[in-house]
Amino acid sequence: MAVVLGIETSCDETGVGVVADGRVLGAALASSMDEHARFGGVVPEIAARAHLESLTPCLLSAMEQAQVKPGEIDAIAVTSGPGLATALQTGLAAAKALAFGWDKPLYGVHHLAGHVAADTLEHGPLPARSIALIVSGGHTSLLLLGDLARDPIVHLGDTVDDAAGEAFDKVARLLGLAYPGGPAVSRAALDGDRAAIAFPRAMLGQGYRFSFSGLKSAVARQVEREPDLSVPDVAASFQEAVVDVLTRKAVAACLEHGIDTLVIVGGVAANARLREVAAERCAAAGLALRVPPPALCTDNGLMIAAVGDLLVEAGHPAAALDLSADPSAPL
Ligand code: KG4
Ligand code: ZN
Repeated sequence: MAVVLGIETSCDETGVGVVADGRVLGAALASSMDEHARFGGVVPEIAARAHLESLTPCLLSAMEQAQVKPGEIDAIAVTSGPGLATALQTGLAAAKALAFGWDKPLYGVHHLAGHVAADTLEHGPLPARSIALIVSGGHTSLLLLGDLARDPIVHLGDTVDDAAGEAFDKVARLLGLAYPGGPAVSRAALDGDRAAIAFPRAMLGQGYRFSFSGLKSAVARQVEREPDLSVPDVAASFQEAVVDVLTRKAVAACLEHGIDTLVIVGGVAANARLREVAAERCAAAGLALRVPPPALCTDNGLMIAAVGDLLVEAGHPAAALDLSADPSAPL
């Protein structure tokens, strides 16, 4: 059994988590989200400074919760990309210092593999083959997964413009809602009529690529034309358009590839309406649906530790201490 410490600093969350044998031992999370709110998006320099301040307290707190001492840790895992360059570098510097100081192997982890592995902490190992829908602030991708530690991840398609979370954030801004937009839009949508406005469903029937910038522009035009429009109605109708396209394509990918398990991960997977529609459509298609609890959907250190754990168990070679950040790491 390996005890793995994971560090995540690719965006605005500083996450440290300790995992042993696919189980959560302890975790800590700090966010600079509030500091970015007035800019309407993440400011890399502010995020990097916040990581520097939060890394040590998060490390100490996660280790205390996990009740592990440095001698009991077998490996250090850290997000090496993709993400904001300066933000990634803070986590990498911390991870290398720990690996060097404590003489532990170091593993660089792909952020998206982390999002997928988060689900294994809740629902156990993935089946031999599954389809993952990754929906976050930076990514919207459909992936064909085998063994996470051994097989390459196959890209079926991703967004050609905005990511789903980015669309939520931009629409929140248009509607005068708080940042980050996802939680704010979904809260507003609770009181709205999702059939109020028939927003476009881009690229349906055109394979596994997504497009959300046209939808965002349609919302902007609608708000401009009818400034007195009900914000909850716009929020609910927009959310429905996003959820409809995401779930239709994800279910189609499973059926086309003869795969019976869909995993939905990433920040937008915290969206209650997405979870609800995905559950309905997966049940209708005879598919098993796996979605981690909301706290494991958004960025955190545990998901990175979970990948580290799989890599250690698979006997993967560790990275050298000159491991560098790869802000635009391909899958
Ligand atoms: O995975 P994540 O924490 O960070 C990235 O790797 O991007 O995802 C953050 C994104 C943001 O765009 C945020 O607005 C969105 O996830 N999000 C949501 C919800 N909670 C977070 N989107 C829709 N509904 C939510 N409840
Ligand atoms: Zn993420």
